[in-house]
Amino acid sequence: MNVKQWLINGNPRGRPLQLDDFTAHETQFDDLQDGRIRVRVEYLSFDPSQKGQMENISGYSSGQALGDIMVARGIGEVIESRVQDVPVGARVVGPVGWQEVADLEAGTFEVVENDDLLTARLGVLGSTGLTAYFGLLRVGQPQPGDVVLVSGAAGGVGSVVGQIAKLMSCEVIGTAGGPSKCAWLTDELGFDATIDYKAERIKHRLSELAPGGINVFFDNVGGVALNDALTRIATGARVVICGGISRYGEARPDGPTNYFNIVFRQATMAGFLLSGYEREYPEARRRLSGWIRDGKLVHREDIQHGFENAPATLIRLFTGANMGKQLLKL
Ligand SMILES: NC(=O)c1ccc[n+]([C@@H]2O[C@H](COP(=O)([O-])OP(=O)(O)OC[C@H]3O[C@@H](n4cnc5c(N)ncnc54)[C@H](OP(=O)(O)O)[C@@H]3O)[C@@H](O)[C@H]2O)c1
Repeated sequence: MNVKQWLINGNPRGRPLQLDDFTAHETQFDDLQDGRIRVRVEYLSFDPSQKGQMENISGYSSGQALGDIMVARGIGEVIESRVQDVPVGARVVGPVGWQEVADLEAGTFEVVENDDLLTARLGVLGSTGLTAYFGLLRVGQPQPGDVVLVSGAAGGVGSVVGQIAKLMSCEVIGTAGGPSKCAWLTDELGFDATIDYKAERIKHRLSELAPGGINVFFDNVGGVALNDALTRIATGARVVICGGISRYGEARPDGPTNYFNIVFRQATMAGFLLSGYEREYPEARRRLSGWIRDGKLVHREDIQHGFENAPATLIRLFTGANMGKQLLKL
């Protein structure tokens, strides 16, 4: 069987991703080995950490080398099975990589229902939604009436964080790039206010929107967003460092100069990795899907099309082209 793949062709450490960091490849699959399934890949998930994995940054689960198949999670249909109890035709979520067909070892994938929440298992019910859930509820510890600021609010993680904060009876402010993203956050997701960081300075708008200060800052962006937010934290604030996408393309990113406000405000700043909460995923998924079914949690998927567009789709995350969770349908 002939299979198209995308291989890693460049290490983007310290610079933005480029299309030629990937090279198209075609390979011949041998007979399927015992203990494996063969899957026709239907959807790929896109996450900023994929760039970090290409750079071999320690802390991400698996480093990658030049010539490797680009790593990615995805959904596929089983077309051949040598694993007991996994029938042909089943849908699975697993580490398929950027290839049209993937062989997956038993234990590395999960069989899922082919229902209306199929693709949500890569987004709001996958690592994206779980990151929002644990980062906000466990690290941010929002209390009713708290002012919660979320950066990167129109992205996969940020859009879920803001909605969970609303469910916890908080006042929610989101930062996002551009008026259409900001309108989506207030009009459809119920955010109380937004800051278009491309048109206005975050710290100036925060003085108007949150005169008493921010109680929780959930940061996906770093850089200016983090520095500005630190100037406006309330006493006892929790600053949650989830990501720092503004620094992922920089060779020597700056740290925050306003960090000393953490002392004056007796605040805490904590990073976290989703993998620390693995044992609690089932309970979190149960709550997230309950909120979706009850109409309390909107999940938006930004679905691009065509396997040939995988590199361009990953780059969308770093140019702000995506709204909601970025996926690609093959
Ligand atoms: N700690 C963990 O375990 C964990 C797990 C998953 C993800 N993360 C992190 O969570 C963050 C969000 O991930 P996601 O999957 O939800 O991605 P995402 O937010 O859907 O996509 C990235 C968004 O970041 C914004 N952005 C890109 N470059 C920027 C820049 N230079 N300055 C400001 N904003 C920029 C863009 O939105 P705008 O148009 O608004 O600029 C873009 O749409 C990432 O930093 C990721 O690394 C952490």
